[in-house]
Amino acid sequence: MSQSRRILFVDDDRNVLDGLRRMLHPMRGQWKMEFVTRGEDALTVMQSNPYDVIISDLRMSGMDGLQLLETVREKSPQTIRIMLSGYADQPLRTRASRCVHQFISKPCDADILKNMVERALALYDRLHSTDLSDILSRLTSLPVLPKAYREVLDLLNNPSCSLRKVGQVVAQDIGLSSKILQVVNNAFVTVQGQKIFDPIHAVSFLGFKASEALILTSGVFSELAEASIRRFCVDQLQEHCMRVGTLARAICGSLHMSDDLLDVASMAGILHDAGKMILISSFPDEYWKSILESRSRYFPVYGAERLAVQASHAELGGYLLDLWGLPSPIIEAVTYHHEPWLCSQSAFSVTDAVYVASLIDHQRQSNLADGWSEPINHDYLQSLGVADHIESWLRLHQATLFEEPAHVG
Ligand SMILES: [Fe+2]
Ligand SMILES: [Fe+2]
Repeated sequence: MSQSRRILFVDDDRNVLDGLRRMLHPMRGQWKMEFVTRGEDALTVMQSNPYDVIISDLRMSGMDGLQLLETVREKSPQTIRIMLSGYADQPLRTRASRCVHQFISKPCDADILKNMVERALALYDRLHSTDLSDILSRLTSLPVLPKAYREVLDLLNNPSCSLRKVGQVVAQDIGLSSKILQVVNNAFVTVQGQKIFDPIHAVSFLGFKASEALILTSGVFSELAEASIRRFCVDQLQEHCMRVGTLARAICGSLHMSDDLLDVASMAGILHDAGKMILISSFPDEYWKSILESRSRYFPVYGAERLAVQASHAELGGYLLDLWGLPSPIIEAVTYHHEPWLCSQSAFSVTDAVYVASLIDHQRQSNLADGWSEPINHDYLQSLGVADHIESWLRLHQATLFEEPAHVG
């Protein structure tokens, strides 16, 4: 993008701001940067000038970072919101996760910060491109979450809430609990050799992050008409998504990624095909045609979808998750899960793990509503230096299917 991007930094510690200013000096050609010490001042300058990105400290005197970014989300939803925080702020980070696109730890490294901002800008440029806005303007409504699901999600995001409490609330909703039991039991064939019959057990078995992602998708799928659920094999699709979450996490684990990234991998895997909900509910005939085209012409289904409705389920899914307020790393993995090479990263990332996990599972557990599944791009994996891991990841998939899934959350 040729025009310079506007970035606003907020921190009540002038030394931190001076450090950022010095560190990011080489970026002044591409970024127009402004630095303020109070949340109130940030809101004032934002009134006169729109900003592409705001990067705020969490703990500040007066208006804190959480209040600031919540207000920015309401007043300027298109601004990318990044929060600087320390590791000790974990409970606050959990509270903030609904209004923050991305967290960055303090003290931060210039290259990491630059890379994060550039990737977030590229992602949101793609999600707000003209083609996508055009298709979205043709939808009468986007999938919304039923109230019971929203309540459980709020509980999951409350740091003082136990998984047992979440399980009890889930158990009170028959639709939600039967859905969770069905997906958990069918996705993995057996769980420690036994079926799970109790929603409280199912939720604690899955852990916080996987439960959250499963409830998000189940909530929207629950709104689909019975005929669509059968035609598009929605139950199998959800089971595929659960396995992809478990496998993507296991792949990241095999490469010794951090616990935070393992959680991102679980959620992104479970949510990766969420955009198919938009296609099933709003463009069922075009989507069905895309599946048939893909199968008969050995052409990836996301390409057929782009020809039919100008956007693939991957981009639509990214847009939906952005609307629901999920963090950028998850949205990025979902948006690029069929073409991870489009989001520039030099090392193997969560997005790559979801790409590999989805292809392995589609190839091994295909259903009638799946399009043709392209082979894994070995040259690409080679370029990331992980091509020789494929055999062990196939074995991990086998373990995902027939053995106990990794406890997540
Ligand atoms: Fe997909
Ligand atoms: Fe998939």
